[in-house]
Amino acid sequence: MKKHFLAIDELTRDEIFDIFALTKDLKDKTKRREEHHLLKGYSLAMIFAKPSTRTRVSFETGIFQLGGTALYLAPQDIGIGTREAVKDVARVIARYNDIIMARLFAHSDIEELAEYSDVPVVNGLTDYNHPCQIMCDAFTILEHKGTLDNLKIVYVGDGNNIAHSWINFAARVPIHLVICSPRDYQPDPDTLHRANDAGISKIELISDPIAAVTDADIVYTDVWASMGQEAEAAERKKIFMPYQLNTTLMSHAKDDALVMHCLPAHRGDEITDEVMEGKQSIVFDEAENRMHVQKAIMVKLAGKA
Ligand code: CP
Ligand code: NVA
Repeated sequence: MKKHFLAIDELTRDEIFDIFALTKDLKDKTKRREEHHLLKGYSLAMIFAKPSTRTRVSFETGIFQLGGTALYLAPQDIGIGTREAVKDVARVIARYNDIIMARLFAHSDIEELAEYSDVPVVNGLTDYNHPCQIMCDAFTILEHKGTLDNLKIVYVGDGNNIAHSWINFAARVPIHLVICSPRDYQPDPDTLHRANDAGISKIELISDPIAAVTDADIVYTDVWASMGQEAEAAERKKIFMPYQLNTTLMSHAKDDALVMHCLPAHRGDEITDEVMEGKQSIVFDEAENRMHVQKAIMVKLAGKA
């Protein structure tokens, strides 16, 4: 496995499934309360330039369960790229810690952090992608459906960091992925070209939500305005309302379709309360699995499995 984990398409298909196998093992051990101190004495520095619930808590708890410890560095603490250059922060933090996890704005900043860090860097979300999330999502689908084969996975919403990581995943693991976004909010064309060139998945862009969701096995959505886009929220709401995941839209999916959302959700916008709380929703299983998958990623990066 590469030294850092910045994007899913930097992994091979085998590495992805190795992480899933280790995730299952670590999850089972966690449920049995069986000690698994594979990273005993390790310290994880968590650099956040944006807010977080799941990423912060799952990484911090996860490294603790592995026998290590975490430091939370809030947006105002470091001022990465403003108070101090990214490459300087990288070299300093890497002298104190064994792993760095960072949630930043520009993707180029996490690439620079990794370039200058002597220890593994894990991407905890950038404006471009969110690889830990989609590794967790695919693992969650495997748990519920037993396979990723022959499933129609439909992402409805903004062509954002979540959409990009799904497309990156499709560049390595064969899936049928449908991205359904308004015309001016499509995912990055280069990311799509790379995934299409990989030639292993069926990737469709369908702008009509009903056509997209018809016969779906998985229906996935995310916020319409991501962190940093709050000023655009009102304008986006008008454009995205036809893409809301509600019972009417869900009626076009398969009867056993599952509903997913990376969270945090804006209930009443991209997803209704009814769908979020409905029996097809697996959003909290998905949230839980963030921790199990990230533990496996950290153990693999540390070369301890
Ligand atoms: N899904 C996710 O990354 O959640 P947080 O923004 O709360 O970390
Ligand atoms: N697209 C969202 C994902 C949050 C986990 C954001 O970037 O805010």
